[in-house]
Amino acid sequence: MAQAASPAVGWLHTSVGRKVVMAATGIFLMTFLVVHLSGNLLLLRGDRGAAFNAYAEFMSTNPFIRVLEVLLFLGFLIHIYQGLYFILKEKQARPQRYTLNAAHANTSLFSRTMRISAVVVLVFLIVHMRHFFVEHRILGTSLTMYESCKIAFENPLYSAFYLFSFLLLGFHLVHGFYSSFQTLGVILNARVERLIRTVGIAFTVFITVGFSAIPIYFLAAKYF
Ligand code: HEM
Repeated sequence: MAQAASPAVGWLHTSVGRKVVMAATGIFLMTFLVVHLSGNLLLLRGDRGAAFNAYAEFMSTNPFIRVLEVLLFLGFLIHIYQGLYFILKEKQARPQRYTLNAAHANTSLFSRTMRISAVVVLVFLIVHMRHFFVEHRILGTSLTMYESCKIAFENPLYSAFYLFSFLLLGFHLVHGFYSSFQTLGVILNARVERLIRTVGIAFTVFITVGFSAIPIYFLAAKYF
């Protein structure tokens, strides 16, 4: 006889439950971005990668970080899975594009481009993981992590792809930040709404400009 699912598991499969999971994993991934950017900014210290290589070594060997890494991959998988679920569900509910004009009037550019920005970030992640994570952790290479970054970002095409991806990541974050807190019921009045919007924009600018500074730094060092 089939067993009935517990109420908590059942709730996770409702639209509200799925949205809360999406918001919670989104906030978790945004905290990862802050940590990742803080470590990566060591690339700009001008010490030929000494501090960055020590940081990368610590991140790849510390047992606590390894556990967090598993949670991070799970966070990405769950976030992507829930996103795909909502896209498919919306497609089934509204196969025709008749509401396009109304959507333009009522929504921001950032919310309308959530799907395309999500796809760009996903493609970026696949390329990025292949280049750094798989190369260093799985296949093995004689290059240090700093050397890998330097070689990659001195290539204008590779850097341009990164810069484009960071721009679209910014689009995704502007809407994602606000929407996560809205889903979690934090926005109770106009003052809180303004605060969340302002913090969301400041966070997005910090992440987008911060990550973009890295390829620009290596390109500038090589060509100017
Ligand atoms: C110029 C910007 C960036 C640089 C230089 C950079 C550098 C790196 C490096 C060197 C690694 C390998 C770490 C290791 O194996 O020990 C890594 C891993 C990773 N990066 Fe990035 N990254 C950048 C931007 C991003 C962005 C924007 C995202 C997310 C949207 C991201 C997501 C990840 C993930 C998920 C991993 C694997 C988990 C980990 O090892 O920490 N990275 N990155």
